[in-house]
Amino acid sequence: MSYEYILTRTERRVGIAQLNRPKAYNALSPALMQELMDALEAFDADPAVGCLLVTGNEKAFSAGADIKSMAAAATPMAMLNSPLIAQWDRLAKIGKPVIAAVSGFALGGGCELAMACDMIVASESAKFGQPEINLGIIPGAGGTQRMTRAVGKALAMEIILNDRRLSAQEAKQAGLVNRIVPVETYLEEALVLASEIAARAPAAVRLAKEAINAVYEMPLQSGLAHESRLFYMLFSTEDQKEGMDAFINKRQANWKGI
Ligand code: CAA
Repeated sequence: MSYEYILTRTERRVGIAQLNRPKAYNALSPALMQELMDALEAFDADPAVGCLLVTGNEKAFSAGADIKSMAAAATPMAMLNSPLIAQWDRLAKIGKPVIAAVSGFALGGGCELAMACDMIVASESAKFGQPEINLGIIPGAGGTQRMTRAVGKALAMEIILNDRRLSAQEAKQAGLVNRIVPVETYLEEALVLASEIAARAPAAVRLAKEAINAVYEMPLQSGLAHESRLFYMLFSTEDQKEGMDAFINKRQANWKGI
């Protein structure tokens, strides 16, 4: 499949989608979002892929939703009918882990895209922010919710109400990102992390992601019950037998994904 606004490839069982509108700092136009979600869903359905990676370029992960196309869609009904925000729901339904490799600007929808992924590997130059307030709007693709969950209310208020931007160090300290790595190696480091996860037992990885994300949807008792059902379910897989046999016989497990 060839795309106009993203580049895709598979390497070391990792499906990589790179945003490719460098002149517009990878602004997330509806067409780009459509392509990105199509690509992520295709990777999700591909048994040769175990983990997904979303990235931009050194200067910009993404500067957010495409302001020019939003300015044109100037009514609430036009926004409601536009695929712009609806595309984002597709990302939440991806079953395999999605890692964001972020360098440079991750602003507005770009920050929201990174936060909608499961982990963030940030380069030393990464800058996170929700500057929508400067446009007379608020984040519309999860920023108020995911930022607040990630960094807490106090800091989220500053970021969203007053365009406070976080350096990579601040974002790490606040719990928004997993790790900070040099700009020169950020993509390789993210790829190493993704390929390590991609080499693990696929069903266990998928259900572990589901169980962790359920924390944000359920009270503790329901979450615990959900976790134990997923745990029991894994005893129906060949990989559970394989993993335990490999441990007992002191050998490397050979995962089959079934
Ligand atoms: N949408 C559309 N085009 C964008 C863009 C965006 N979000 N961000 C940058 N661009 C374009 C600029 O219009 C410019 O294009 P032209 O060369 O055709 O004029 C080009 O990218 C380069 O941008 P600048 O000249 O502004 O470059 P800079 O280095 O001076 O600044 C920047 C870089 C700080 C990222 C700045 O471009 C900027 O502030 N961008 C907007 C960030 C923003 O407000 N994001 C939130 C968008 S709204 C949103 O995301 C809503 C949501 O929740 C879904």
